[in-house]
Parts: sequence; C-alpha cells; structure tokens
Amino acid sequence: MAMSQEQLTVERPTGLESWRDAPPVLFSAEEVSRRVRTLAREIAAARSDRPLTLAVVLRGAFVFAADLIRALIEIGVRDLTVEFLSVASYRGMASDRTRPDVHYVNGIFPGEGRDVLVVEDIIDRGHTLEAIERALSSHCERLRVCALLDRPHLREVPIGPHHVGFTLDTDDFVVGYGLDLDGRYRELPYLGRLPAPPRA
Ligand code: IMP
Ligand code: MG
Repeated sequence: MAMSQEQLTVERPTGLESWRDAPPVLFSAEEVSRRVRTLAREIAAARSDRPLTLAVVLRGAFVFAADLIRALIEIGVRDLTVEFLSVASYRGMASDRTRPDVHYVNGIFPGEGRDVLVVEDIIDRGHTLEAIERALSSHCERLRVCALLDRPHLREVPIGPHHVGFTLDTDDFVVGYGLDLDGRYRELPYLGRLPAPPRA
C-alpha cells in the first residue's frame, strides 16, 4: 500500500538543525579517519610492555577516543582499559581558567603500574593539560598525551602532547567530531571551523 505524503513527512531531530548552517570543513571525515589510524600505529609503536589505560577527557574527546580505540584494537593492541575524566574551570562561584579542577568519572583513577595515555580533543593555552598531568602523574607508571588537535601558538605553559592529529596555526574555533560550541556541533562527522573565535 502506498504511503500518503503525510506519513512520509518526518520531523527533523533538533540535534540536526545545525546541519542547515553547517560550518566550513577544516578536515573532512575521511581525512580525520586516515589520521586517526596513523595515530594508532604511532601509539602502538611507542608503547611499553606495561598495560595501557586511555584517560579520555570528557566531553570533547569522546568521538576521537572511540575511533582511536577501535583503530588500536584493529592493529592488535591488547591490554587496554579506558577511563574517563572531566576538567572544570569553576570552583564554587569563582572561575579560574588557569587552574581547572580534574574529576575522575569513577571517583578514583586506577592507573597504578600502568601506562596512561591522555586522550584530549584540543590543546590551546595548555592549562587544561597541565591540570590533568598534575592530577595523574603520581597515579601511573608513565604518562603520555595524545591530542586530536594542537594549537602551539596559543600556549601559555610549556607543555605539549606526544602524539598529535593535526597542528593548527590559526585561531579559528574548531567544532564537530565531538568538539562543541556551547553544546552545538558535536554531532558533525567532520572537523569544521568557525572563523570568529568566541574565546574570552
Ligand atoms: P587550554 O589548553 O587550557 O586553553 O584549553 C583547552 C580546552 O579548551 C580543550 O580541552 C577544549 O575543551 C577547549 N577548546 C579550546 N579551543 C577549542 C576549539 O577550538 N574548539 C572547541 N573547544 C576548544
Ligand atoms: Mg577539552
């Protein structure tokens, strides 16, 4: 039986509204996918004999981490566990963007005797990564960092990732592939750029 026009009309989910004004492509889904698989090979080549824990920084790194984990498994990496942490720049009412707080989603971070690889979306001024390293370094054997994006020209502290997906030399605000602007654009399958940087 043929469907009427009314039955064929589907409500567009609100999360997809942003696709109508989708930001320009910085790196396509294919470019990101290729780069993530190369990163997995780099990480596998650099790992020690110890078991490895990925410390995924919520929320921006969640898509990247999911693809990276599958790429690592695909090339035979085993002895892998995954933990989650989040970083907040607020204490009570006061905002201190240079000393953010690190929260472990499980309450503790079980890294004793393991190598830990921090999986982060983007490193700008470096304060977020500095706080993570401060929090985790005494809870594991060896701490390394993998960032999907790195913007070294904005750095305020001398710190950097061991593995980098893409290095940026512009101030464009990056969204998509898990990265957001005020909760928007995380669902985009590619990395897009918003030309006006809305940073404070
Ligand atoms: P910083 O290195 O302490 O300046 O902060 C890095 C954090 O700021 C990242 O973990 C992101 O959450 C956020 N961030 C910085 N730049 C961008 C961007 O271009 N797009 C999305 N989030 C960003
Ligand atoms: Mg982040």
